[in-house]
Amino acid sequence: MEKSLRIAELFRHEKDVLGKTVSVQGWVRTRRESKAGISFIELNDGSCLRNLQVIARTDHPDFAHILPQISNGCSLLIAGAITASPGKEQSVELQAERIKIYGLSDPATYPLQKKRHSFEFLRQISHLRSRTNTMGAVTRVRNRLSYAIHQYFQERGFFYIHTPIITASDCEGAGEVFRVTTLKPDSRLQGDGENVYRNDFFGKPTYLTVSGQLQAEIYALALGQVYTFGPTFRSENSNTSRHLAEFWMVEPEMAFCDLEDNLKTGESLIKALLEVVFSECGDDLAFFNRFIEPSLSDGLERILKEPMEVLPYSEAIRLLQKSGESFEFPIQWGSDLQAEHERCLTERLFKGAVALIDYPRDIKPFYMRVNDDEKTVAAMDILVPRIGEIIGGSQREERLDVLLDQMRLKGIPEEEYRWYIELRQYGSVPHSGFGLGLERMVQCVTGLGNIREVIPFPRTPGHAEF
Ligand code: 4AD
Ligand code: MG
Repeated sequence: MEKSLRIAELFRHEKDVLGKTVSVQGWVRTRRESKAGISFIELNDGSCLRNLQVIARTDHPDFAHILPQISNGCSLLIAGAITASPGKEQSVELQAERIKIYGLSDPATYPLQKKRHSFEFLRQISHLRSRTNTMGAVTRVRNRLSYAIHQYFQERGFFYIHTPIITASDCEGAGEVFRVTTLKPDSRLQGDGENVYRNDFFGKPTYLTVSGQLQAEIYALALGQVYTFGPTFRSENSNTSRHLAEFWMVEPEMAFCDLEDNLKTGESLIKALLEVVFSECGDDLAFFNRFIEPSLSDGLERILKEPMEVLPYSEAIRLLQKSGESFEFPIQWGSDLQAEHERCLTERLFKGAVALIDYPRDIKPFYMRVNDDEKTVAAMDILVPRIGEIIGGSQREERLDVLLDQMRLKGIPEEEYRWYIELRQYGSVPHSGFGLGLERMVQCVTGLGNIREVIPFPRTPGHAEF
Protein backbone atom coordinates (compact mmCIF):
# COMPACT_ATOMS: atom_id res chain seq x y z
CA MET A 1 0.00 0.00 0.00
CA GLU A 2 1.23 3.47 -0.72
CA LYS A 3 2.17 5.37 2.46
CA SER A 4 0.20 8.58 2.81
CA LEU A 5 0.07 11.46 5.23
CA ARG A 6 -2.89 11.61 7.62
CA ILE A 7 -4.73 14.91 7.14
CA ALA A 8 -4.44 15.79 10.86
CA GLU A 9 -0.66 15.43 10.58
CA LEU A 10 -0.63 17.54 7.44
CA PHE A 11 -2.41 20.42 9.20
CA ARG A 12 -0.27 20.00 12.32
CA HIS A 13 2.93 20.36 10.29
CA GLU A 14 1.55 22.81 7.78
CA LYS A 15 4.69 24.94 7.56
CA ASP A 16 6.95 21.93 6.99
CA VAL A 17 4.86 20.46 4.19
CA LEU A 18 4.26 23.73 2.34
CA GLY A 19 5.67 23.35 -1.19
CA LYS A 20 6.25 19.62 -0.76
CA THR A 21 4.53 16.83 -2.67
CA VAL A 22 2.48 14.52 -0.46
CA SER A 23 -0.27 11.97 -0.86
CA VAL A 24 -3.42 11.63 1.21
CA GLN A 25 -6.21 9.03 1.29
CA GLY A 26 -9.78 9.41 2.40
CA TRP A 27 -13.43 9.85 1.46
CA VAL A 28 -14.93 12.65 -0.58
CA ARG A 29 -17.23 14.93 1.39
CA THR A 30 -18.13 17.18 -1.57
CA ARG A 31 -16.98 17.99 -5.06
CA ARG A 32 -17.86 21.10 -7.04
CA GLU A 33 -16.79 22.49 -10.40
CA SER A 34 -15.83 26.10 -10.96
CA LYS A 35 -16.34 27.84 -14.28
CA ALA A 36 -12.59 28.41 -14.44
CA GLY A 37 -12.00 24.71 -15.11
CA ILE A 38 -11.20 23.67 -11.58
CA SER A 39 -12.72 20.86 -9.57
CA PHE A 40 -12.73 21.41 -5.78
CA ILE A 41 -12.70 18.18 -3.79
CA GLU A 42 -13.17 18.22 -0.01
CA LEU A 43 -11.44 15.15 1.33
CA ASN A 44 -11.82 13.80 4.87
CA ASP A 45 -9.87 10.88 6.33
CA GLY A 46 -11.33 10.85 9.85
CA SER A 47 -8.07 11.89 11.51
CA CYS A 48 -9.51 15.32 12.28
CA LEU A 49 -12.62 17.38 11.78
CA ARG A 50 -11.17 19.46 8.97
CA ASN A 51 -11.35 18.47 5.32
CA LEU A 52 -8.41 18.96 3.01
CA GLN A 53 -9.34 21.03 -0.03
CA VAL A 54 -7.98 19.48 -3.19
CA ILE A 55 -7.67 21.47 -6.41
CA ALA A 56 -7.92 19.37 -9.58
CA ARG A 57 -7.61 21.04 -12.96
CA THR A 58 -10.20 19.68 -15.36
CA ASP A 59 -7.78 20.17 -18.29
CA HIS A 60 -5.21 17.84 -16.67
CA PRO A 61 -4.76 15.06 -19.27
CA ASP A 62 -5.19 12.23 -16.70
CA PHE A 63 -8.29 13.67 -15.05
CA ALA A 64 -10.75 13.91 -17.94
CA HIS A 65 -12.23 10.47 -17.31
CA ILE A 66 -11.56 10.37 -13.53
CA LEU A 67 -13.19 13.58 -12.28
CA PRO A 68 -16.70 12.86 -13.58
CA GLN A 69 -16.72 9.59 -11.61
CA ILE A 70 -15.91 11.26 -8.29
CA SER A 71 -18.91 11.90 -6.07
CA ASN A 72 -19.70 12.12 -2.35
CA GLY A 73 -18.55 9.07 -0.40
CA CYS A 74 -16.05 7.95 -3.03
CA SER A 75 -12.65 6.82 -1.64
CA LEU A 76 -9.49 8.26 -3.17
CA LEU A 77 -5.75 8.58 -3.03
CA ILE A 78 -4.58 11.99 -4.15
CA ALA A 79 -0.98 13.09 -4.59
CA GLY A 80 0.26 16.59 -5.28
CA ALA A 81 1.94 19.68 -3.90
CA ILE A 82 0.78 21.53 -0.81
CA THR A 83 0.34 25.25 -1.48
CA ALA A 84 -0.90 28.22 0.50
CA SER A 85 -4.61 28.63 -0.07
CA PRO A 86 -6.06 31.96 -1.24
CA GLY A 87 -9.41 30.96 0.34
CA LYS A 88 -10.49 32.13 3.80
CA GLU A 89 -11.70 28.68 4.89
CA GLN A 90 -8.32 26.96 4.89
CA SER A 91 -4.64 27.85 5.14
CA VAL A 92 -3.28 25.23 2.76
CA GLU A 93 -4.64 23.13 -0.07
CA LEU A 94 -3.40 20.33 -2.29
CA GLN A 95 -2.81 20.72 -6.03
CA ALA A 96 -3.73 17.32 -7.43
CA GLU A 97 -1.20 15.74 -9.79
CA ARG A 98 -2.36 12.14 -9.45
CA ILE A 99 -5.73 10.71 -8.40
CA LYS A 100 -6.51 7.05 -7.78
CA ILE A 101 -10.05 5.88 -7.14
CA TYR A 102 -10.31 3.04 -4.61
CA GLY A 103 -14.07 2.75 -4.48
CA LEU A 104 -16.87 4.55 -6.30
CA SER A 105 -20.01 5.71 -4.53
CA ASP A 106 -23.31 5.87 -6.38
CA PRO A 107 -24.57 9.44 -5.93
CA ALA A 108 -28.14 8.31 -6.61
CA THR A 109 -28.26 6.12 -3.50
CA TYR A 110 -25.48 7.34 -1.14
CA PRO A 111 -27.47 8.19 2.03
CA LEU A 112 -25.24 11.02 3.26
CA GLN A 113 -26.23 14.21 1.49
CA LYS A 114 -24.66 17.58 2.13
CA LYS A 115 -27.68 18.71 4.16
CA ARG A 116 -27.94 18.01 7.89
CA HIS A 117 -29.54 14.68 8.74
CA SER A 118 -31.52 13.95 11.89
CA PHE A 119 -29.76 11.86 14.55
CA GLU A 120 -32.63 9.33 14.38
CA PHE A 121 -32.02 8.81 10.68
CA LEU A 122 -28.26 8.55 11.16
CA ARG A 123 -28.73 5.87 13.82
CA GLN A 124 -30.40 3.67 11.21
CA ILE A 125 -27.26 3.89 9.11
CA SER A 126 -24.66 3.42 11.85
CA HIS A 127 -22.34 1.89 9.24
CA LEU A 128 -22.15 5.28 7.52
CA ARG A 129 -22.88 7.77 10.30
CA SER A 130 -19.25 7.31 11.39
CA ARG A 131 -18.40 9.43 8.34
CA THR A 132 -20.34 12.46 9.55
CA ASN A 133 -18.72 15.43 11.28
CA THR A 134 -20.64 14.77 14.50
CA MET A 135 -19.80 11.07 14.81
CA GLY A 136 -16.20 11.69 13.78
CA ALA A 137 -15.84 14.32 16.51
CA VAL A 138 -17.64 12.14 19.10
CA THR A 139 -15.40 9.19 18.25
CA ARG A 140 -12.18 11.17 18.57
CA VAL A 141 -13.29 12.71 21.89
CA ARG A 142 -14.44 9.33 23.23
CA ASN A 143 -11.08 7.86 22.27
CA ARG A 144 -9.15 10.65 23.96
CA LEU A 145 -11.26 10.38 27.14
CA SER A 146 -10.71 6.62 27.33
CA TYR A 147 -6.96 7.13 27.04
CA ALA A 148 -7.05 9.97 29.59
CA ILE A 149 -8.88 7.71 32.06
CA HIS A 150 -6.06 5.18 31.86
CA GLN A 151 -3.49 7.98 32.11
CA TYR A 152 -5.18 9.42 35.18
CA PHE A 153 -5.11 6.16 37.12
CA GLN A 154 -1.77 4.87 35.83
CA GLU A 155 -0.07 8.13 36.84
CA ARG A 156 -1.46 7.72 40.36
CA GLY A 157 -0.35 4.15 40.98
CA PHE A 158 -3.64 2.35 40.30
CA PHE A 159 -3.54 -1.12 38.73
CA TYR A 160 -5.85 -1.95 35.84
CA ILE A 161 -7.87 -5.09 36.70
CA HIS A 162 -9.81 -7.07 34.11
CA THR A 163 -12.98 -8.06 35.94
CA PRO A 164 -15.23 -10.74 34.43
CA ILE A 165 -18.01 -10.03 31.94
CA ILE A 166 -19.84 -13.23 32.89
CA THR A 167 -20.69 -13.35 36.59
CA ALA A 168 -22.99 -15.07 39.05
CA SER A 169 -23.61 -11.93 41.15
CA ASP A 170 -25.90 -8.94 40.69
CA CYS A 171 -23.77 -6.23 42.27
CA GLU A 172 -26.42 -3.52 42.27
CA GLY A 173 -29.15 -5.91 43.41
CA ALA A 174 -31.65 -4.29 41.08
CA GLY A 175 -32.41 -7.47 39.15
CA GLU A 176 -31.62 -5.73 35.86
CA VAL A 177 -29.42 -8.55 34.62
CA PHE A 178 -29.14 -10.28 31.26
CA ARG A 179 -29.01 -14.04 31.65
CA VAL A 180 -26.13 -15.96 30.09
CA THR A 181 -27.15 -19.51 29.28
CA THR A 182 -26.60 -22.35 26.86
CA LEU A 183 -29.90 -23.99 27.80
CA LYS A 184 -32.42 -24.36 24.98
CA PRO A 185 -35.37 -21.99 25.45
CA ASP A 186 -37.80 -24.77 26.42
CA SER A 187 -35.48 -26.61 28.85
CA ARG A 188 -36.61 -24.38 31.70
CA LEU A 189 -39.99 -26.02 31.52
CA GLN A 190 -38.51 -29.45 32.15
CA GLY A 191 -37.52 -30.93 35.49
CA ASP A 192 -40.52 -29.83 37.49
CA GLY A 193 -38.95 -27.84 40.32
CA GLU A 194 -35.53 -29.45 40.11
CA ASN A 195 -32.50 -27.26 39.54
CA VAL A 196 -32.56 -26.71 35.77
CA TYR A 197 -29.27 -24.82 35.97
CA ARG A 198 -27.52 -28.11 36.76
CA ASN A 199 -27.48 -28.70 33.02
CA ASP A 200 -26.48 -25.16 32.15
CA PHE A 201 -22.93 -24.33 31.05
CA PHE A 202 -21.73 -23.07 34.43
CA GLY A 203 -24.01 -25.27 36.52
CA LYS A 204 -25.68 -22.24 38.04
CA PRO A 205 -27.46 -19.04 36.91
CA THR A 206 -25.04 -16.55 35.34
CA TYR A 207 -25.41 -13.04 33.96
CA LEU A 208 -23.63 -10.31 32.06
CA THR A 209 -22.02 -8.05 34.63
CA VAL A 210 -23.81 -4.88 35.78
CA SER A 211 -20.62 -3.66 37.50
CA GLY A 212 -17.10 -4.91 38.15
CA GLN A 213 -17.09 -3.39 41.63
CA LEU A 214 -17.31 -6.50 43.80
CA GLN A 215 -14.38 -8.11 42.00
CA ALA A 216 -12.48 -4.81 42.03
CA GLU A 217 -12.93 -4.77 45.82
CA ILE A 218 -11.15 -8.14 46.05
CA TYR A 219 -8.11 -6.70 44.28
CA ALA A 220 -8.20 -3.36 46.13
CA LEU A 221 -7.93 -5.36 49.35
CA ALA A 222 -4.70 -6.85 48.04
CA LEU A 223 -3.12 -4.26 45.73
CA GLY A 224 -4.43 -1.11 47.41
CA GLN A 225 -5.60 0.95 44.44
CA VAL A 226 -7.14 -0.62 41.37
CA TYR A 227 -9.58 0.22 38.60
CA THR A 228 -11.64 -1.73 36.14
CA PHE A 229 -12.80 -0.23 32.85
CA GLY A 230 -15.05 -2.20 30.58
CA PRO A 231 -18.52 -2.82 29.19
CA THR A 232 -21.41 -3.31 31.60
CA PHE A 233 -24.94 -4.46 30.88
CA ARG A 234 -28.29 -3.56 32.36
CA SER A 235 -31.68 -4.69 31.22
CA GLU A 236 -33.52 -1.77 32.81
CA ASN A 237 -36.35 -1.01 30.47
CA SER A 238 -35.77 2.71 30.45
CA ASN A 239 -36.00 4.21 27.02
CA THR A 240 -34.40 7.47 28.11
CA SER A 241 -31.77 9.78 26.67
CA ARG A 242 -29.24 8.72 29.32
CA HIS A 243 -29.62 4.94 29.60
CA LEU A 244 -28.09 2.22 27.48
CA ALA A 245 -28.40 -1.56 27.90
CA GLU A 246 -24.66 -1.81 27.15
CA PHE A 247 -22.40 0.96 28.40
CA TRP A 248 -18.82 1.45 29.49
CA MET A 249 -17.92 2.22 33.06
CA VAL A 250 -14.62 2.98 34.81
CA GLU A 251 -14.62 1.85 38.43
CA PRO A 252 -11.73 2.74 40.73
CA GLU A 253 -11.58 1.00 44.10
CA MET A 254 -9.31 2.19 46.90
CA ALA A 255 -8.30 0.56 50.17
CA PHE A 256 -7.69 2.80 53.21
CA CYS A 257 -10.04 5.37 51.69
CA ASP A 258 -13.16 6.98 53.18
CA LEU A 259 -16.04 8.79 51.51
CA GLU A 260 -14.28 12.16 51.64
CA ASP A 261 -11.20 10.87 49.79
CA ASN A 262 -13.46 9.03 47.38
CA LEU A 263 -15.27 12.27 46.56
CA LYS A 264 -11.99 14.07 46.02
CA THR A 265 -10.89 11.39 43.56
CA GLY A 266 -14.18 11.63 41.66
CA GLU A 267 -13.98 15.40 41.42
CA SER A 268 -10.33 15.36 40.41
CA LEU A 269 -10.96 12.70 37.73
CA ILE A 270 -13.77 14.72 36.13
CA LYS A 271 -11.63 17.87 36.18
CA ALA A 272 -8.61 16.06 34.72
CA LEU A 273 -10.79 14.74 31.88
CA LEU A 274 -12.18 18.22 31.18
CA GLU A 275 -8.66 19.62 31.03
CA VAL A 276 -7.69 17.04 28.43
CA VAL A 277 -10.72 17.91 26.31
CA PHE A 278 -9.89 21.63 26.48
CA SER A 279 -6.22 21.15 25.72
CA GLU A 280 -6.35 18.35 23.14
CA CYS A 281 -9.76 18.27 21.49
CA GLY A 282 -9.99 21.98 20.57
CA ASP A 283 -11.36 21.65 17.02
CA ASP A 284 -13.94 19.05 17.96
CA LEU A 285 -15.01 21.05 21.02
CA ALA A 286 -15.43 24.18 18.88
CA PHE A 287 -17.61 22.13 16.53
CA PHE A 288 -19.87 21.00 19.40
CA ASN A 289 -20.13 24.59 20.64
CA ARG A 290 -21.12 25.78 17.19
CA PHE A 291 -23.55 23.07 16.12
CA ILE A 292 -24.75 21.21 19.23
CA GLU A 293 -24.71 23.33 22.41
CA PRO A 294 -23.69 27.01 22.33
CA SER A 295 -23.13 27.22 26.09
CA LEU A 296 -21.04 24.05 26.19
CA SER A 297 -17.55 25.42 26.88
CA ASP A 298 -18.80 27.99 29.41
CA GLY A 299 -20.55 25.25 31.38
CA LEU A 300 -17.52 22.95 31.26
CA GLU A 301 -15.24 25.79 32.29
CA ARG A 302 -17.42 26.40 35.33
CA ILE A 303 -17.24 22.73 36.38
CA LEU A 304 -13.47 22.85 35.89
CA LYS A 305 -12.85 26.07 37.83
CA GLU A 306 -15.36 25.90 40.67
CA PRO A 307 -14.94 23.64 43.70
CA MET A 308 -17.71 21.05 43.61
CA GLU A 309 -20.69 21.62 45.88
CA VAL A 310 -21.15 18.77 48.42
CA LEU A 311 -24.58 18.32 49.92
CA PRO A 312 -26.20 15.67 52.11
CA TYR A 313 -29.18 14.02 50.44
CA SER A 314 -31.51 15.26 53.19
CA GLU A 315 -30.45 18.84 52.54
CA ALA A 316 -31.02 18.39 48.79
CA ILE A 317 -34.54 17.15 49.46
CA ARG A 318 -35.24 20.22 51.62
CA LEU A 319 -33.93 22.55 48.90
CA LEU A 320 -35.98 20.83 46.19
CA GLN A 321 -39.13 21.03 48.29
CA LYS A 322 -38.46 24.74 48.94
CA SER A 323 -37.61 25.46 45.28
CA GLY A 324 -41.21 26.19 44.38
CA GLU A 325 -40.87 24.12 41.21
CA SER A 326 -43.67 21.77 40.28
CA PHE A 327 -42.20 18.37 39.57
CA GLU A 328 -43.84 15.53 37.69
CA PHE A 329 -42.63 13.25 40.51
CA PRO A 330 -43.11 15.02 43.85
CA ILE A 331 -40.01 14.59 45.99
CA GLN A 332 -39.86 13.45 49.60
CA TRP A 333 -37.26 11.99 51.95
CA GLY A 334 -36.74 8.36 51.02
CA SER A 335 -37.43 8.61 47.31
CA ASP A 336 -34.78 8.43 44.61
CA LEU A 337 -34.01 11.55 42.62
CA GLN A 338 -35.49 11.71 39.13
CA ALA A 339 -33.83 13.48 36.20
CA GLU A 340 -35.99 16.57 36.80
CA HIS A 341 -34.73 16.87 40.38
CA GLU A 342 -31.12 16.44 39.33
CA ARG A 343 -31.53 19.15 36.70
CA CYS A 344 -33.14 21.51 39.18
CA LEU A 345 -30.17 21.11 41.54
CA THR A 346 -27.41 21.41 38.92
CA GLU A 347 -28.94 23.86 36.46
CA ARG A 348 -30.95 26.19 38.65
CA LEU A 349 -30.06 25.93 42.33
CA PHE A 350 -26.28 25.48 42.05
CA LYS A 351 -25.47 26.11 38.39
CA GLY A 352 -22.70 23.53 38.31
CA ALA A 353 -21.60 20.09 39.48
CA VAL A 354 -23.11 18.89 42.76
CA ALA A 355 -22.17 15.86 44.87
CA LEU A 356 -24.91 14.36 47.00
CA ILE A 357 -23.88 12.18 49.92
CA ASP A 358 -25.53 10.12 52.68
CA TYR A 359 -28.51 8.64 50.86
CA PRO A 360 -31.30 6.69 52.60
CA ARG A 361 -30.18 3.14 53.34
CA ASP A 362 -33.34 1.70 51.78
CA ILE A 363 -32.72 2.95 48.24
CA LYS A 364 -29.06 1.94 47.94
CA PRO A 365 -27.35 -1.45 47.45
CA PHE A 366 -26.26 -3.76 50.29
CA TYR A 367 -22.53 -3.03 50.10
CA MET A 368 -22.69 0.66 51.12
CA ARG A 369 -21.37 1.60 54.56
CA VAL A 370 -24.11 2.30 57.12
CA ASN A 371 -23.79 5.72 58.78
CA ASP A 372 -24.06 6.26 62.54
CA ASP A 373 -27.68 7.42 62.19
CA GLU A 374 -28.45 3.89 60.83
CA LYS A 375 -30.88 5.49 58.38
CA THR A 376 -28.39 6.58 55.73
CA VAL A 377 -25.37 5.12 53.98
CA ALA A 378 -22.03 6.64 52.93
CA ALA A 379 -23.07 6.97 49.29
CA MET A 380 -22.03 9.66 46.82
CA ASP A 381 -23.53 10.61 43.49
CA ILE A 382 -21.95 13.34 41.39
CA LEU A 383 -24.44 15.24 39.25
CA VAL A 384 -23.66 17.62 36.39
CA PRO A 385 -25.88 20.02 34.43
CA ARG A 386 -27.76 18.57 31.40
CA ILE A 387 -26.81 14.96 32.27
CA GLY A 388 -27.64 14.47 35.95
CA GLU A 389 -25.83 11.56 37.62
CA ILE A 390 -22.43 10.95 36.06
CA ILE A 391 -20.75 9.17 38.99
CA GLY A 392 -22.23 6.79 41.55
CA GLY A 393 -20.14 5.43 44.40
CA SER A 394 -19.75 4.87 48.11
CA GLN A 395 -17.62 3.87 51.03
CA ARG A 396 -18.06 0.10 51.39
CA GLU A 397 -19.28 -1.66 54.53
CA GLU A 398 -16.11 -3.15 56.02
CA ARG A 399 -17.65 -4.30 59.36
CA LEU A 400 -18.60 -7.97 59.24
CA ASP A 401 -21.63 -7.77 61.54
CA VAL A 402 -23.12 -4.71 59.86
CA LEU A 403 -22.58 -6.23 56.41
CA LEU A 404 -24.39 -9.40 57.46
CA ASP A 405 -27.27 -7.28 58.82
CA GLN A 406 -27.46 -5.38 55.54
CA MET A 407 -27.51 -8.60 53.52
CA ARG A 408 -30.28 -10.08 55.65
CA LEU A 409 -32.27 -6.85 55.38
CA LYS A 410 -31.97 -6.80 51.60
CA GLY A 411 -32.46 -10.54 51.12
CA ILE A 412 -28.99 -11.21 49.72
CA PRO A 413 -28.13 -14.94 50.09
CA GLU A 414 -25.00 -15.33 52.24
CA GLU A 415 -23.89 -18.58 50.68
CA GLU A 416 -23.49 -16.97 47.26
CA TYR A 417 -21.43 -14.08 48.65
CA ARG A 418 -19.22 -16.16 50.95
CA TRP A 419 -16.11 -14.69 49.33
CA TYR A 420 -17.35 -11.12 49.80
CA ILE A 421 -18.03 -11.81 53.47
CA GLU A 422 -14.62 -13.43 53.97
CA LEU A 423 -12.92 -10.24 52.83
CA ARG A 424 -14.38 -8.76 56.06
CA GLN A 425 -13.15 -11.69 58.14
CA TYR A 426 -9.55 -11.60 56.99
CA GLY A 427 -7.86 -8.19 57.16
CA SER A 428 -10.82 -5.95 56.44
CA VAL A 429 -10.05 -2.24 55.89
CA PRO A 430 -12.09 0.87 55.18
CA HIS A 431 -12.36 1.16 51.41
CA SER A 432 -14.28 3.09 48.79
CA GLY A 433 -14.86 3.44 45.10
CA PHE A 434 -17.14 4.71 42.41
CA GLY A 435 -18.28 4.21 38.83
CA LEU A 436 -18.10 6.86 36.11
CA GLY A 437 -20.26 6.17 33.06
CA LEU A 438 -18.10 6.81 29.99
CA GLU A 439 -21.06 7.66 27.75
CA ARG A 440 -22.43 10.19 30.24
CA MET A 441 -18.97 11.77 30.38
CA VAL A 442 -18.91 11.96 26.56
CA GLN A 443 -22.39 13.49 26.62
CA CYS A 444 -21.16 16.02 29.15
CA VAL A 445 -18.26 17.24 26.99
CA THR A 446 -20.02 17.11 23.62
CA GLY A 447 -23.38 18.58 24.60
CA LEU A 448 -25.20 15.74 22.84
CA GLY A 449 -28.64 15.29 24.36
CA ASN A 450 -29.12 11.61 23.58
CA ILE A 451 -26.74 8.94 24.87
CA ARG A 452 -27.31 6.93 21.66
CA GLU A 453 -25.20 9.47 19.81
CA VAL A 454 -22.06 8.93 21.90
CA ILE A 455 -21.50 5.17 21.44
CA PRO A 456 -20.80 3.61 18.03
CA PHE A 457 -23.53 0.97 18.21
CA PRO A 458 -26.16 1.74 20.86
CA ARG A 459 -28.04 -1.11 22.54
CA THR A 460 -31.44 -0.04 23.88
CA PRO A 461 -34.76 -1.86 24.33
CA GLY A 462 -35.68 -3.27 20.92
CA HIS A 463 -32.41 -2.24 19.29
CA ALA A 464 -29.35 -4.41 18.72
CA GLU A 465 -28.60 -3.72 15.07
CA PHE A 466 -25.09 -3.84 13.62
O1 4AD B 1 -24.58 4.37 40.10
P1 4AD B 1 -24.21 3.08 39.46
O2 4AD B 1 -25.29 2.08 39.25
O3 4AD B 1 -23.04 2.49 40.36
C1 4AD B 1 -22.48 1.27 40.26
O4 4AD B 1 -22.67 0.47 39.38
C2 4AD B 1 -21.41 1.02 41.30
N1 4AD B 1 -21.21 -0.43 41.39
C3 4AD B 1 -20.17 1.74 40.90
C4 4AD B 1 -19.06 1.59 41.90
O5 4AD B 1 -19.20 2.07 43.00
N2 4AD B 1 -17.99 0.94 41.53
O6 4AD B 1 -23.52 3.35 38.04
C5 4AD B 1 -22.39 4.17 37.96
C6 4AD B 1 -22.47 5.10 36.76
C7 4AD B 1 -23.66 6.05 36.81
O7 4AD B 1 -23.38 7.18 37.60
C8 4AD B 1 -23.80 6.42 35.33
O8 4AD B 1 -22.83 7.38 34.95
C9 4AD B 1 -23.47 5.11 34.65
O9 4AD B 1 -22.68 4.35 35.57
N3 4AD B 1 -24.66 4.35 34.29
C10 4AD B 1 -25.17 4.25 33.06
N4 4AD B 1 -24.77 4.79 31.89
C11 4AD B 1 -25.49 4.49 30.79
N5 4AD B 1 -26.57 3.69 30.78
C12 4AD B 1 -27.01 3.11 31.93
N6 4AD B 1 -28.06 2.31 31.90
C13 4AD B 1 -26.30 3.39 33.13
N7 4AD B 1 -26.43 3.01 34.42
C14 4AD B 1 -25.44 3.60 35.10
MG1 MG C 1 -26.34 5.32 40.59
